[in-house]
Amino acid sequence: MNKALRKAVIAGNWKMNKTPEEAKELIAQIAPLVKDADCSVVTCVPFVDLQAALEATKGTNIGVGAENCHWEKSGAYTGEISADMLAAMGVQYVIIGHSERRTYFGETDVTVNKRVRAALDAGLTVILCVGEYLEQREQGITAELVAMQTKIALQGVSKEELARIIIAYEPVWAIGTGKTATADQANEVCAVIREVIAGLYGRDAGDGITIQYGGSMNAKNAAELLDKPDVDGGLIGGASLKAPDFAAIVEAASR
Ligand code: PGA
Repeated sequence: MNKALRKAVIAGNWKMNKTPEEAKELIAQIAPLVKDADCSVVTCVPFVDLQAALEATKGTNIGVGAENCHWEKSGAYTGEISADMLAAMGVQYVIIGHSERRTYFGETDVTVNKRVRAALDAGLTVILCVGEYLEQREQGITAELVAMQTKIALQGVSKEELARIIIAYEPVWAIGTGKTATADQANEVCAVIREVIAGLYGRDAGDGITIQYGGSMNAKNAAELLDKPDVDGGLIGGASLKAPDFAAIVEAASR
């Protein structure tokens, strides 16, 4: 019902793909295709591509994001990048809590929360990922699990700061597998998350927050997913690496 009040956000998650040179090329292909978008367009790229992406997106309507950040401002954390470092470069967005970080790099709800806190303190906008494994869905605990992930991630986040939080519902079984959640499944869980936000921060906050779906969203299935009342955009992996496909999703979100 309040979907019209929320701006859709289509964000690409390039994961561990593209060199800086390739990043420039891909952005140069995407930019003209999305210039009239009636939604926010973001590309989240590997750390080493950020500088190239910031330059390539200058003067365009494409925002730039990182794919993770550490929670400390600086210090003895070999291999890590702080939220402050990202902000100092001019990066605006950061993905936090992606399931690949949770699965392969030991990310927990508690470290997700610390990273969210650091990103907000640095002035970044967070794309916070939550989602269940297939076994959890089969066990019937999706709603509880996603609610818990959301609550823990947002501990200590004020209602005002919520304006810089985008939540991405990404069922792990749908990521990179070609198995998209049905539009109804996606909408159902996005609605659960919206209720969690309303419970924590009030109805207006629930109605105002942007909730994306992610997991094998592509040029073909985007319109049906984005048509759902509680799906406000998408976090796009594979399809964000192909300019025409990504642009088609942006186009679907602009309608
Ligand atoms: P996918 O990835 O679109 O390739 O499934 C989505 C994501 O991991 O954000």
